[in-house]
Parts: sequence; C-alpha cells; structure tokens
Amino acid sequence: MLRIGILGCGRIGQVHASSIQQISRAKLIAVADASVSAAEAGAQRFGVEVRSVADILTASDIDAVVIATSTATHFDMIHAASASRKAIFCEKPIDLSSERVRICIDEIERSGVPFMTAFNQRFDPHFAALRERVVNGEIGNVETVCITSRDPAPPPVSYIEGSGGLFRDMMIHDLDMARFVLGEEPAQVFAVGSNLVDPSIGAAGDVDTAAVILTTPNGRVCQITNSRRSTYGYDKRLEVHGSKGMLRVSNVLENLVESAGNAGFERARAQPFFLERFGAAYLAEMMHFVDAVTSGSKPTPDAQDGLRAQMIADAATTSWREGRPIPIED
Ligand SMILES: NC(=O)c1ccc[n+]([C@@H]2O[C@H](COP(=O)([O-])OP(=O)(O)OC[C@H]3O[C@@H](n4cnc5c(N)ncnc54)[C@H](O)[C@@H]3O)[C@@H](O)[C@H]2O)c1
Repeated sequence: MLRIGILGCGRIGQVHASSIQQISRAKLIAVADASVSAAEAGAQRFGVEVRSVADILTASDIDAVVIATSTATHFDMIHAASASRKAIFCEKPIDLSSERVRICIDEIERSGVPFMTAFNQRFDPHFAALRERVVNGEIGNVETVCITSRDPAPPPVSYIEGSGGLFRDMMIHDLDMARFVLGEEPAQVFAVGSNLVDPSIGAAGDVDTAAVILTTPNGRVCQITNSRRSTYGYDKRLEVHGSKGMLRVSNVLENLVESAGNAGFERARAQPFFLERFGAAYLAEMMHFVDAVTSGSKPTPDAQDGLRAQMIADAATTSWREGRPIPIED
C-alpha cells in the first residue's frame, strides 16, 4: 500500500486525489494547500485530513507526495521531499528554468527517491496504442510527425504572466509527445508565433498562436501547431508517418452519434478540454506511479524527460524571439 499526500488542491491536485482513491494499492492520507478554503474543500471532497505542506513532507505515515502546486513552488517542494525520502510525483513543468531543473535532478539522484514527471498524455490509451505500434515497427522508419493542440479558450492573463509562455506551458506536452514517438532526440527547433486570439496575451509578452518544426539527427521532421483558440472543443490530434504507412489519432468527440440530412453529415464537437479528454490518462499515469514505487521499479517519464522537454521549450522560445533555428543542447 502506497500512502500518499497531495500538495496543492487546485484543479489538477483534485484530479490526482480522485485517481488515488480509485487505486486499491494506494491510500490518500492528507491534502495541503496554501489556501485554507482550497485545502478544506479538498479534504471534505475526498474524506481525508488537512495538514500543512511541512507536515505532509515530513510525516512518517506518508510514503509519497504529489506536487500539484503552482509551478514556481515545485523546486522547493522537490528538495524538501527528497530530503525526507518521499517518492515524488511532480506536475509538469518541473520548473520554468532548465538550470533549476538540473539542480532538482542532482538532488533527486543524490537522495535516490523515485521521481515521475506528470506528462499524462503519454498514458492516453489512444496515444499509448499508437506509440506501441510505432515501436513495434508497423509503419517502418518514422519520417514525419504532426501534432495539433488547440485549447477551447485562452487562460486569464494573470495565468499567462506566471506560465513561462506558450512554449513552456502549453507546448511542453507536445514536445514530450514528439520525443515519445520520434524515436530519437530532436536536434534543432525553429519556432514562429503570433498574437491572434487575445491582445492581452501579446501585451504580456506571449503568443497565443504558434508552430514549431523539430528536426532529428537522422532527418526526421516533426511539426507542432498550437492555438489558444478552438471553436469546436479541445482539438488534440497526433499523426506519425513512416516508410510503411501512417498512424493517426483523431479527436475524441463528445459522443459518437452521427446525423445525416440534406446538408450533409454531422458529428458532435470534440470533448470540451483536457480534463475530459485525458481523464483515463490521469488515472493510468497515477496507476503507473503507484505500481512502479511499490514494486521498486523506476517510474517514467522521469526527471530527465522533464528536463529534455524543458530544454526544447527554452530553445523554441529563443527561436521565436530571434527568428532563427536553434540547436538543442545535447
Ligand atoms: N498535466 C496536466 O495536464 C496539467 C494540467 C493543469 C495544470 N498542470 C500543472 O499543475 C500545476 C498546478 O496547476 P493547476 O492548474 O492545478 O493550478 P491551480 O491554481 O488550480 O492549483 C494550484 C494550487 O496550489 C496552491 N498553492 C500554490 N502555492 C502553494 C504553496 N506554496 N503551498 C501550498 N499550496 C500552494 C494554490 O493555492 C492552488 O490551490 C502547475 O504546475 C501546472 O502547470 C498540469
């Protein structure tokens, strides 16, 4: 039985609490949040006690922590959890600075605690099945990858200001997915971006519309498109083309009813947003973490995966700012 404490009882902390309560080999012991009302609401919803962050980090009846607080707090919590030898499940991004992620990795390796970076999209059953078939050689040598992510609406500008920008906040999931299916590390990135959706995002120094091209040492090409706008639900698609064929995951729709009439065929909208689209993935990633920690194996994706995606996001941000391709550090 893995006894878990949750740090951060906001949007994603509650998703993880709900997952833990569905896993028989895991037990949610307590939640903590800097906001008393968020902590109390979480504790009430999940029927567990509220403790302080420090109490959870040092508790003798807790084996693992889920770090689901705002990104800027992850660094200190990773250090404190490592020091008290708790297994760590940490939300992405680990930190907004690659340099600080490297410091976290040193600390994690020094203490030897299990660490998982929560790139949940790897655990989506559709994406995971596609990836397995790529790895099994069904489409031969991977040549091109296309990833589309469009959010239904932009977040408030207050969120944008602390997010590190679209490439580090939103595209980081797609950059990890690119690494997951490409079969080799991207060596170069070229990024473009515009402000077409919300002028306040541009005023905050960020973009809301962007594309990148990643290239690998063997010439594989990956194209990623992001937008903070989609009028038809959460648009999330993945396509991998290889020497023997193509594999594709289309949007998951709200329902499978299709109507036909004089005007043509009509289907439902895409699912509203990531909480609905990746519901199964959030549960699967937590099951993987619990299985890995209780069986003594290494959870993946790990902190190095967090760092690699972060480095590509950093290079993409530089590329967008400077208007030139940027090599990705080895
Ligand atoms: N993997 C995903 O799909 C996904 C989705 C959303 C968010 N995230 C990540 O999860 C993290 C949290 O995002 P969110 O959307 O849940 O944010 P949120 O604002 O809804 O929740 C964060 C919570 O952390 C609490 N908090 C902040 N600082 C704290 C501190 N020092 N001590 C204790 N509690 C503190 C806040 O009070 C808040 O309740 C971010 O790193 C974000 O990038 C990941």
